[in-house]
Amino acid sequence: MSAAHPLSMLSAEEVLIAKQVTTQAGDLGEGAVVVHVILVEPSKESLAAWSQGDPVLRTVKMLVLPGAELTMIELLISVSEERVLERKLIEGMRPALLMGESFIAMLACKEHPDYIAAMARRGIVDLEHVQIDPWPAGAFGFAAEEGRRIARCISFVRLTADDNGYARPVEGLLVHVDLGTGEVIEVIDHAQLDGVDPIPVPQTPARYGPDDVGPLRTDLKPISITQPEGASFTVEDNLVSWQKWSLRIGWDPYEGLVLHDLGYFDSGRVRKILHRASISEMVVPYGDPGPVQGWKNAFDAGEWGLGRMTQSLTLGCDCLGEIYYMDATMATEQGDAWVVPNAICMHEEDYGIGWKHVDLLTGRHEVRRSRRLVISHIATVGNYEYGFFWYLYLDGNIQMEAKLTGIMSSQGLPDSEPHPFAGRIASGVVAPVHQHLFCARLDFDVDGEENRVEEVHVETMPAGPDNPWGNGFAAHAQLLERESGAKWQTDSASSRSWRVTNPGVLNGLNRPVGYKLVPTMSTPTLMARPESSVARRAGFAQHNLWVTPFDSEELRAAGEFPNQHEGGAGLPEWTAADREIVDTDIVLWYTFGITHIPRPEDWPVMPVEYTGFMLMPFGFFDRNPALDVPPSPPGHCAPDHSAPGNGAPGHCG
Ligand code: NI
Repeated sequence: MSAAHPLSMLSAEEVLIAKQVTTQAGDLGEGAVVVHVILVEPSKESLAAWSQGDPVLRTVKMLVLPGAELTMIELLISVSEERVLERKLIEGMRPALLMGESFIAMLACKEHPDYIAAMARRGIVDLEHVQIDPWPAGAFGFAAEEGRRIARCISFVRLTADDNGYARPVEGLLVHVDLGTGEVIEVIDHAQLDGVDPIPVPQTPARYGPDDVGPLRTDLKPISITQPEGASFTVEDNLVSWQKWSLRIGWDPYEGLVLHDLGYFDSGRVRKILHRASISEMVVPYGDPGPVQGWKNAFDAGEWGLGRMTQSLTLGCDCLGEIYYMDATMATEQGDAWVVPNAICMHEEDYGIGWKHVDLLTGRHEVRRSRRLVISHIATVGNYEYGFFWYLYLDGNIQMEAKLTGIMSSQGLPDSEPHPFAGRIASGVVAPVHQHLFCARLDFDVDGEENRVEEVHVETMPAGPDNPWGNGFAAHAQLLERESGAKWQTDSASSRSWRVTNPGVLNGLNRPVGYKLVPTMSTPTLMARPESSVARRAGFAQHNLWVTPFDSEELRAAGEFPNQHEGGAGLPEWTAADREIVDTDIVLWYTFGITHIPRPEDWPVMPVEYTGFMLMPFGFFDRNPALDVPPSPPGHCAPDHSAPGNGAPGHCG
């Protein structure tokens, strides 16, 4: 079955064809593991040239790991022609961590005599419910890292199979496992090395199920979202149309959701805004400099995969209202199709008022409701959950919101010990200070490919004859000409934003059409020192904004293979060329996130914390594009539902 459109999502059939072709080519022998099968997106030229009814030629990239060595085979496969187009060896790099190998690593730890002995020194002899978390290793120059793919494994004690193990971190015990051979390289017991007693395993339970947390509140009345005429969006294949928006939904094992070909219908045509938007990479560096916690940093996109770790969503729980779900198709490590049902959730949300004014002279009152289309997925990466929510609004705004929840990485520390790099979250348990830094890749095509970027900030005018009252301030825009001048930090004091314009297309006021990127919340950059291992590897996180000229090969902000990579790849490497970025096809990279200072309220499971950014039209339209939203019919109040005792007139519907 052939795809309907060059940007249709990868299908199970295509994965199977790729497997057959690779098997026939002899590259999927005994012990070989498939790392991923990814749709190769069509070039902008071929996409523009394609029209309905033309043949759809589909190509995928398959990455195969033949064995324990640091060699991978990347195959470019035409699934339309069922043949290998290109085969290349990738030497010296490590793929993202693999599920099969991770499970083998867990078992290997539990069987190793040094591990059993170290656990016994902590009074743990029954290892049945011990939970072992394999972490990406980073690059610290340990002998164990050399020439191998490794994981650093840390342990937690569950009392039962479904317990929350993060309540009982086994402190000071680290196991290096060779993922290629499945063998334990070394068991490092920091307590033994330091000649001290091990930190006791904390005993405070941290279960959070409805049966564990005490009486549940009983005064929450139902909120029902009803859309009696259905949702206002349509989906055909992966083409979504909602109000004046149109886009295609895509999926990548590392980025998760991808928005393609995002445009807004205006003046009789769809005006393109973004060719492609995604979360390209993210990093979670920890602030504790000690040997037990200091190696902790995770590139949850490139080392695990926001797509690979995505879980199915549940109606009524994850998503409320008239939901349209889409499945995500990837490849298993055996090369078979792996479909995550209900991976992507799409629905509309009422979002309060969109605009309003009351004419105080006449009492005339005009108000319109705001509404947004929500496109989301949620990845569970080990202890943490990341929800990625893209919102499209009636007024042309586009928003990305990341929702952070799940369980913090915990550390055992007696209550009497100081904890300068961690927050006390329970008796015997602290959580190290850390950051979550996401990098969005935004391939803007604002009314076409030839765009430029300006940094915009507001300046207070100097005192003088031009500013006699001292009140003067004005917005200043400076054109970003080359990559070297396009590395920026946010600055809320000067209201800094970045504007993408197309000087070749003028609006009705004779100004170039544009969109601006607005940091909607304060956002840090990487706290680690620039010469540190994690800063070299997460170069993208040293600046909030980067601009590059479009290159189809430049997709992942920390490079293609961040796992155990020594650093420098991705944005720092590409922008070292200092290419021109004026009136060409440009890509904005925006790093945003939070510095998480753990608090008791984040335990045992963390209430959602939000971070993100907004893309707002800036002269893309000639006036408020939501003027044509019709007034909502007025509701009525129902006194019979009046809340008892508060004298209120009742609820209004
Ligand atoms: Ni956190």
